Amino acid sequence: MADQRSLSFAKDIRPMFTDTDVDHMQSAGLDLSSRDEVAKSADAIYQTVSEGSMPPPGSGETWTVEMCDRFKRWKDQGCPP
Ligand code: HEM
Repeated sequence: MADQRSLSFAKDIRPMFTDTDVDHMQSAGLDLSSRDEVAKSADAIYQTVSEGSMPPPGSGETWTVEMCDRFKRWKDQGCPP
């Protein structure tokens, strides 16, 4: 059964972004270390990680179904800090 506990950006979401993710996306104009920025773009971010276009396949990183589900649950909970 899915884990229904309340999620937080600091504890559950931020650790899923690597230094590489944060560095590269900062140069692309999106600060993945900031709860407010991630919350603002949460739908677009969920779209890219669930379709597998981000992190880019060539980067050597992949998000599992569990990671995508956790992000979606956090988004559905209103992106708590
Ligand atoms: C709205 C969501 C996002 C948009 C529009 C976006 C867009 C981009 C763009 C334009 C680039 C530069 C071109 C490229 O190297 O492919 C890039 C690179 C990258 N992005 Fe994203 N991105 C998003 C979310 C994410 C997320 C959520 C992650 C990590 C979980 C991520 C990880 C990366 C990485 C690691 C690179 C560097 C790839 C490399 O050079 O090997 N991005 N992204």
